[in-house]
Amino acid sequence: MTSDVILDKPPARLARVFSGIQPTGELHLGNYLGAVRTWREQVEAGTDETMFCVVDAHAITVPYDPKELRKNIDDLVLDLIACGVDPEKTTLFVQSDVREHMELAWYLASVTPMGDLSRMTQFKDKGEGKDFVSTGLFTYPVLMSADILLYKATIVPVGEDQVQHLELARETARRFNHRFVGKKQKPVFFEPKARLSATPRIMGLDGEGKMSKSKGNTIGLFEAPDSFWKKLSKAYTDPQRLKLSDPGRPEICNIFTMHKAMSPKETQDEVYVNCTEAKWGCVACKKVLFENFEKELIPLRTKREQLSVDKVRQAMGDGASKARRIAVETMKEVREVMGLGSLGT
Ligand code: TRP
Repeated sequence: MTSDVILDKPPARLARVFSGIQPTGELHLGNYLGAVRTWREQVEAGTDETMFCVVDAHAITVPYDPKELRKNIDDLVLDLIACGVDPEKTTLFVQSDVREHMELAWYLASVTPMGDLSRMTQFKDKGEGKDFVSTGLFTYPVLMSADILLYKATIVPVGEDQVQHLELARETARRFNHRFVGKKQKPVFFEPKARLSATPRIMGLDGEGKMSKSKGNTIGLFEAPDSFWKKLSKAYTDPQRLKLSDPGRPEICNIFTMHKAMSPKETQDEVYVNCTEAKWGCVACKKVLFENFEKELIPLRTKREQLSVDKVRQAMGDGASKARRIAVETMKEVREVMGLGSLGT
């Protein structure tokens, strides 16, 4: 669909970065290396306005236990803050604390064709073979579009697997403007851009697809060092390397990918040489990786232990208020151009 209004031109202000993460269980190495670490870097750089959201309303689209969800939300917020996503410097909040996400999702559903949603690969993957597939799972990408467009975010850090959803959000911005905004008026929404993580995808410990809690192939970021090591030491490497004397292929090895994300350049080179020349065994290589993980993770663990749940809950209240201030303004515009009620806020 083409649009008459000029899009892709962000409003005259700082870039606004928005990203979301589901509270589906402990934060693992894949989340950290692929997303959360770059969030911290963006928060610390302070060049863009940043917003990070714990997307609990997305987590309810598959069967779940309410008590567990509540705990997962608190835990994830603690994890994120311990990782340096500092609520003093960014807007960190829980999605369901800002009801406008759900409201906008409903309105955006009116410009989102069912055909687009049924082509989403995540929907196909998560829904396939299940006895119960909720309507929410089907409309999940509409809620994701709402998350982003509600704040008129310009940059959305996501993993490769979310690019299709982001394309839909861009399309939704165009469709909405085309349908509801006159040619001479200023567009309500702008097309957000994806920012892909520079870290290649971290595979699961079993080597089967990406590291993911639902597949049980993860190492928790805040796992105790002994169980961390136990899991790492058994992790899948190059399947052709059966004996120490077999040369390994770092380029296909998940452990090497992690070295690239965690270890200094000299160590990466050392690993490469010792693996391809069959001088180091996989356990030795993992030991070096483990030590580098420890260096980075010990301060995060210490920080996490020091955080108080009460203080963190209060910070989430403040985060939601900050987010709501923007959300309310967007919703006024949206209701107005859609011809909906204006007395609610
Ligand atoms: N769907 C994303 C994921 O599973 C999470 C998410 C929800 C998100 N809303 C978002 C990511 C908005 C970026 C922006 O990873």
